[in-house]
Amino acid sequence: AKSYNITLLPGDGIGPEVISVAKNVLNLVGSIQGIEFKFNEMPIGGAAMDLSGVSLPEETLTAAKQSDAVLLGAIGRYKWDKMERHDLKADTSLLHLRGGLKVFANLRPVLVLPQLVDSSTLKKEVVEGVDLMIIRELTGDIYFGKPKGYGTDENGNEIGFNTEVYAAYEIDRVARIAFETARKRSGKLCSIDKANVLEASMFWRKRVIAISVEYPDVELSHMFVDNAAMQLVRNPKQFDTIVTNNIFGDILSDEASMITGSIGMLPSASLAASGPGLFEPIHGSAPDIAGQDKANPLATILSAAMLLKHGLGEKKAADRIELAVLNTLDRGFRTSDIYSLGNKLVGCKEMGEQVLKSLDAKTHAS
Ligand code: IPM
Ligand code: MN
Repeated sequence: AKSYNITLLPGDGIGPEVISVAKNVLNLVGSIQGIEFKFNEMPIGGAAMDLSGVSLPEETLTAAKQSDAVLLGAIGRYKWDKMERHDLKADTSLLHLRGGLKVFANLRPVLVLPQLVDSSTLKKEVVEGVDLMIIRELTGDIYFGKPKGYGTDENGNEIGFNTEVYAAYEIDRVARIAFETARKRSGKLCSIDKANVLEASMFWRKRVIAISVEYPDVELSHMFVDNAAMQLVRNPKQFDTIVTNNIFGDILSDEASMITGSIGMLPSASLAASGPGLFEPIHGSAPDIAGQDKANPLATILSAAMLLKHGLGEKKAADRIELAVLNTLDRGFRTSDIYSLGNKLVGCKEMGEQVLKSLDAKTHAS
């Protein structure tokens, strides 16, 4: 039988709860498809800080690099958040992990499921049928640019500063992934930047246009980020594939998640040129509901599906998981973030059990 090594990084807050559910789903789909998963659970974030004093221990990064794929829960703990504000020190473990794995292309699909069209705060006509893919550059930009830090300016004012910088090769490689993705979807790619003001964005646009020559069959358009933020809620169906830089992609993907109704539904895949991919829900650690069995595990379960499809090339197993999630929603099971009247309100564990049940039922039916 096929066998894969998966690094699990539960992390903080609701991370361990959603990862434990996703692990059960992977085990069951593996037994159905004849795939064996060897899980290696490692600490990261506040949890690692408690254990070893660092948020991304050397052993965790090494284990992740040596595995076939990495599944992450969430990072960030209330306790450490508070400390950040005093010490002006952020938890950079996630950035170091992304940088260490060189996962430069972050795929964030935004899909409005027919079962959940009523859970969006936007009008049904606006969100119904939305199916877009945000491709966010993940290892460059103001997140990683130097110089950065704290200091004093020439007038003696205390300052904090970061640098937005992109090298041509960083833009080119993520643009290629975006063109390839758009080609497989509707053939439309929109590049989002702030090229009316920022040199880094003018350069971004120049490189994207240069790469577009390799993809004459893909229709490329450009939009300024402020307009894009507005267009995403005005008429999201005008978009298919979006490519943008690290910081704009961070902000626009949170905004786009609300088209679907809940950030608790959105998975993501972060891919490198070679080596393991990193798969994680786009939501955070939600310390306010941690340990209460209230979290929605579906974003992590769908991230496990992306891990199978994009990370391991196990498309059949991935499809099975996606079908099981749809079937669970069809049967009316809802966590509180996606609950609407007439459905069955369940916690994280029960939602996981129901997905397992759907997986099982589908198998016996086919
Ligand atoms: C995300 C998160 C991270 C980011 C934070 C936690 C570093 O918001 O994955 O979108 O800004 O990339
Ligand atoms: Mn974010």
